[in-house]
Amino acid sequence: SNMAETILNKLDKEALPKHIGIIMDGNGRWAKKRGLPRYAGHKKGATVFRSISKYCNKIGINYLTVYAFSTENWRRPKEEVDAIMKLMDGFLDDFKQYVKLNIKVRFIGDLSAFNESMYNKIRTVEDATKNATGLNLNIALNYGGRDDILSASKKLAQKVAGGEISIEDIDEEVFSQNLYTYGQDDVDLVIRPSGEQRISNFLLWQTAYAEFVFMDVLWPDFTPKHLDDALIEFAKRTRRFGGV
Ligand code: FPP
Repeated sequence: SNMAETILNKLDKEALPKHIGIIMDGNGRWAKKRGLPRYAGHKKGATVFRSISKYCNKIGINYLTVYAFSTENWRRPKEEVDAIMKLMDGFLDDFKQYVKLNIKVRFIGDLSAFNESMYNKIRTVEDATKNATGLNLNIALNYGGRDDILSASKKLAQKVAGGEISIEDIDEEVFSQNLYTYGQDDVDLVIRPSGEQRISNFLLWQTAYAEFVFMDVLWPDFTPKHLDDALIEFAKRTRRFGGV
């Protein structure tokens, strides 16, 4: 509707990134500012996550990867971790909406950490949306960029040990195909709200040539208008990929 018309009137489809990564930061500060418990920030953050995913789907973005829970986030108080997992569970229960919206949902990260019920739900959602042709939505859960690279290295070492491939076969393309994001394009644009300016172990390999847009808005306050602003900023950048 109107929002999508606005940005697509301002920018050519070709000027849009194919793959956007978002570090959904600032939930805790948003809650604190309001005198609310931290989980209230995550709750609003989960609502914003849903609305931004739908918006990306509407304007024709191919891939959106959101950082929902890092390999380091287990260090948070148990009640906060539980609250985030409960929000994830609520999202998983709503998957029929995503089937209807033609959004393909995938989880990236070390899913072996989750119990069978959660793991089965994740696989159910992935399976139910696997034929969708709209937005590819990656949810990074128990994800770490270093873990991604290590896990790819182990898979490759196993294949070499098993005689499936030889060491010389391992090039960047083959390596990419063993990451959690196999089959997908590299990240073009990383958006990090909340004023922090760091990568925090997000998609390390996949962001080698990404543009970064840091924004002074807390994730629970993030709207499609903020996404439009980041897209306009992205369109102004000249990407050379190491060339001239
Ligand atoms: C970072 O903000 C946010 C997280 C570690 C969790 C992000 C999770 C969600 C938005 C909900 C996930 C649910 C679904 C359905 C995807 P922070 O807590 O570090 O904020 P702060 O830096 O202000 O403390």
